[in-house]
Amino acid sequence: MAQTGAMAATGSRLSQLECRACGTSLSADQIRTVCPACAGPLFATYDLAHWSARTWRQTLVQRPATLWRYRELLPVQDDRSIVTLGEGFSPVIDLGAVPDADGLEVWLKDDGLLPTGSFKIRGMSVAVSRARELGVRRFFVPSAGNAGVALAACAARAGATARIYLPTGTPAAMESACRLYGADVVREGPTIREAGIAARTAEATTGALDMSTLREPFRAEGKKTMGLEIWEEMAPDHLPDAILYPTGGGTGIVGMFRAFRQLIELGLLDRMPRLYSVQPRGCAPIVRALDEGEARARPWDDAHTVAPGLLVPAPFGSERILEAVRESRGGGVAVSDASIRVAVHDLAQRHGVSASPEGAATYAALSSLAANGAIRTGERVLLYNTGSGIPFLNAPP
Ligand SMILES: Cc1ncc(COP(=O)(O)O)c(C=O)c1O
Ligand SMILES: [Zn+2]
Repeated sequence: MAQTGAMAATGSRLSQLECRACGTSLSADQIRTVCPACAGPLFATYDLAHWSARTWRQTLVQRPATLWRYRELLPVQDDRSIVTLGEGFSPVIDLGAVPDADGLEVWLKDDGLLPTGSFKIRGMSVAVSRARELGVRRFFVPSAGNAGVALAACAARAGATARIYLPTGTPAAMESACRLYGADVVREGPTIREAGIAARTAEATTGALDMSTLREPFRAEGKKTMGLEIWEEMAPDHLPDAILYPTGGGTGIVGMFRAFRQLIELGLLDRMPRLYSVQPRGCAPIVRALDEGEARARPWDDAHTVAPGLLVPAPFGSERILEAVRESRGGGVAVSDASIRVAVHDLAQRHGVSASPEGAATYAALSSLAANGAIRTGERVLLYNTGSGIPFLNAPP
C-alpha cells in the first residue's frame, strides 16, 4: 500500500483538535495523544461553514456502502492513506416481539458482522489510516480483545507493527486472532486499567503510538460513523427514540453523540435519540456517576463481569460519556451477569443473532427500562450489538 502518484484529496473538513475540558486548541496535522495542558482527551473539529451539507447528503447514496462514504467528516486527507477492510453498514434488523418489552418496537444493529467481528474496526481503521498518513509505523493498545484484533488487522494491512496488551482473562480466541494477524501479544493484569498502565510504561521509549481509548483523537471519529449510519439508515421516519449501548471505555457512545450533534448543527437531523449507557452490575462506574449526579466517574473497586469489553473500572473519558448521556436525556442501567448470559441465549434462540456478552447486555437492559418507564409504549428502541458471539463459543460467558 505504498503511496504513489499525486494526492487524491478525500475532501475532509478536518480543521483542529480541541480539549473540551480546558479549551486548548491545537493543529491537527501532527501526531497527538492527550491534551498537553491538562492531559484530557482531544477531539477533532471540522470546518463546516460554507459547506453544503444538503448537497453532500444527496451524494452519499451513490458512494460505496462503507464508513468511508462519510470521508468529509473523517480526518484522513489523502485517499491513498486509507486502510480499510470494507467496514461499515452493518445490518439493522427488526427483532419483532420481545418478552418483557411489550409495546416497544425493538431493533438491533449488528456490528458483530463487521470485519474482525466488532465495532472496534470502525475506530481502528480511521485512526490507523490517519496515523499512517502522519508517518506512524508502530502501534500499541491495551484491549479487552476486540480493539486488539481490529488494530492487529489494520496494522497488518498498513505494513505497520502492533503490540496488544490483553488482561489475563481475555478469551483465548481473541489472543489467537491478534497473533494470526502478526501482532505481538502481552498478557497483563486483571483489567484493562492495569494492562494500560503496564503498556504505557513498557512502551514509553519505543516510539509506538498509544491507541488506548480516547488517548488519541481519531478512534472516536471512526466510532462517529455508528451514529451517521443510524441516521442514514433510519432517519427521519424510523430514527430510534432511544439507543441502548454497552459502555466500557466509552468511545462508542461519545462517538455516536458527536455524530448526532454534528448532524443537528448541519441541519440534517432535527432531534437527538436518547443514549442509554448499559453496564454490568460488577463494573458500573458510569451508571453510579449518573445516579450520584457526578461530573466524572470514580474508579470501581473489585470490578468483575462476564463481558470483557465492559470490564473498565476507570474510564479515561468519563466526563465526555456522562455529557453524552445527560445531554441526550438518556440514562444508565446496570444489569446482572446472569441476565447477560440469558440474553446471549435468547438473542441466539429467539432472534437468530450471535451477540457478544457486551451487546447482549443491551437486550438484558430492555426489561428494566420498560418497567421503570424510561422507555414508553410505542417508542422505537435500537439495541447496539457491538461484537460477535463467535469468540465465546468455546468459552461461554
Ligand atoms: C464487544 C464490545 N462491546 C463494547 C465495548 C465497550 O466499548 P466502548 O469503549 O465504546 O465503551 C467493547 C470494548 O472492548 C467491546 O469489545
Ligand atoms: Zn486540556
